[in-house]
Amino acid sequence: MSIAVALDGPAGAGKSTIARRAAKALSYIYVDTGALYRTVGLAATEAGVSPVDSPELDDLLQTIKVELTFTEQGEQAVLLNGTDVSDRIRTPEASMTASKISAIPKVRAFLLDLQRDMAKTNDIIMDGRDIGTVVLPDAQVKIFLTASPEARAGRRFKELAEKGMDVKYEDILSDVKERDYNDTHRATAPLKAAADSVTVDTTELDFEQSVEAVLAVIKEKI
Ligand code: DC
Repeated sequence: MSIAVALDGPAGAGKSTIARRAAKALSYIYVDTGALYRTVGLAATEAGVSPVDSPELDDLLQTIKVELTFTEQGEQAVLLNGTDVSDRIRTPEASMTASKISAIPKVRAFLLDLQRDMAKTNDIIMDGRDIGTVVLPDAQVKIFLTASPEARAGRRFKELAEKGMDVKYEDILSDVKERDYNDTHRATAPLKAAADSVTVDTTELDFEQSVEAVLAVIKEKI
């Protein structure tokens, strides 16, 4: 049987970078499910469809194809109708659209099988918001990775500034808080720690310490 590690937590807790490194150390595949919601959001933006529950959104979901592929190095790429959109889904606007569109039950249902199929045949670390609670409730390891909003905003600010994006810390902090609110208050699959998860708080940890903390939880459970 393949092994699944569910890694959930709020935006900017470092899930993706930590999970990527931990997956490499264990020779597991890393699956970033946020990229899927971002891709549906991008599809809506491009089609001029608002990220709200509507017949237009239903029609859009009928026509789009979202796929995950992996390079030989194990890096994930997400395809929208056959085109790699991995870079285009990383803007602050795409983050906000993803947060809104991910609250819609039909969008979550649309992406559910794709996520579950990934876990059937591979040893994986899957990061998201509802992996331990909804997508993979039987995952052998469940981790809730979190950090203070200020620490998370600070890290995201640094990341975007290093990419040359013209961003303000205050704007990012208010985005982080707004997304936290959206993600934890939505009716369907809200962000919350699974009852059987282990919480890792990275507020006071640097990157290497965070990776070690996550690997320690995984090694203890398997
Ligand atoms: O992890 P991320 O920032 O790339 O996620 C983008 C948005 O998608 C985020 O606001 C929450 C949502 N999301 C979700 O609802 N469920 C997931 N499994 C992953 C992401």
